[in-house]
Amino acid sequence: MQDILKLIQQRKSLRISFDTERPVAKEDLGKILEAGRWAPTAHNMQNYEIVVVDDKKILENIGKIKSPISEIFVRENYKQLSFSEEELRRKRVGISGAMFPPSWRNPDFKLSEAEKKAVWPLDKSFPTGPVLLIVIYDPDKRAPASEGDFLGIISLGCVMENMWLMANSLGIGFHIMSVLGADPVAKEVKRILDIPKQLKIAFACRLGYPVSEPAKYLRVRRDVEDFTHHNRFGNKGLDSQEYRKGLRN
Ligand SMILES: Cc1cc2nc3c(=O)[nH]c(=O)nc-3n(C[C@H](O)[C@H](O)[C@H](O)COP(=O)(O)O)c2cc1C
Repeated sequence: MQDILKLIQQRKSLRISFDTERPVAKEDLGKILEAGRWAPTAHNMQNYEIVVVDDKKILENIGKIKSPISEIFVRENYKQLSFSEEELRRKRVGISGAMFPPSWRNPDFKLSEAEKKAVWPLDKSFPTGPVLLIVIYDPDKRAPASEGDFLGIISLGCVMENMWLMANSLGIGFHIMSVLGADPVAKEVKRILDIPKQLKIAFACRLGYPVSEPAKYLRVRRDVEDFTHHNRFGNKGLDSQEYRKGLRN
């Protein structure tokens, strides 16, 4: 039991370059996909297809896709930022503003004329690694009576987490790239990989071995007492020492 909790606590995002000369062993990729395969999905729909991309030329072509800066993304992103370690420690949610360019750390962000024209190749932000997994789904295959296919989308999150935990347990770095699921990037990825028009890209995962020691970054979480309500909403926290024995192990 201890091992799975440690694995969950130590799973993390690696937003750094992966060694292109060090492939992820096929056997390990098999284990990662096997972990995804056993994820729970609403109605056992198994509502995903996964494109495994390890061809250097195709990876290069994906890396060259140009991604415009989204004003909405930058403004909404701002709400999740902290601007010092102290602030992040206090808030316990969100991410560090240091991960983004200084001009993005502004609640009234507006694209400058130059930024409107600027298009950023994907591999400038996320250097191409040895393998990409592109998780796609058919929006017409929905979980029954699920508004916006909410349950189907949660299911894809379960696939993500299973694969992430397995990759990290094998010492393989893992980085989610949502940007591949949004147009205009998604359109280009679909063209390059012959993905049928009606399918959608949920997310992509960059996998590999870091070229350098990853910089340590502060990872924060809310306390269990902060998000639990005992027997009725508003009755915050847990009142028993027994619960506490399981927390912050
Ligand atoms: C649905 C989902 C989408 C995410 N999209 C991105 C992304 O596009 N880029 C990125 O760097 N991290 C992405 N992440 C990673 C989160 O930012 C990360 O899990 C969170 O900040 C906590 O950090 P940790 O993974 O190191 O614990 C995503 C995570 C999830 C679950």
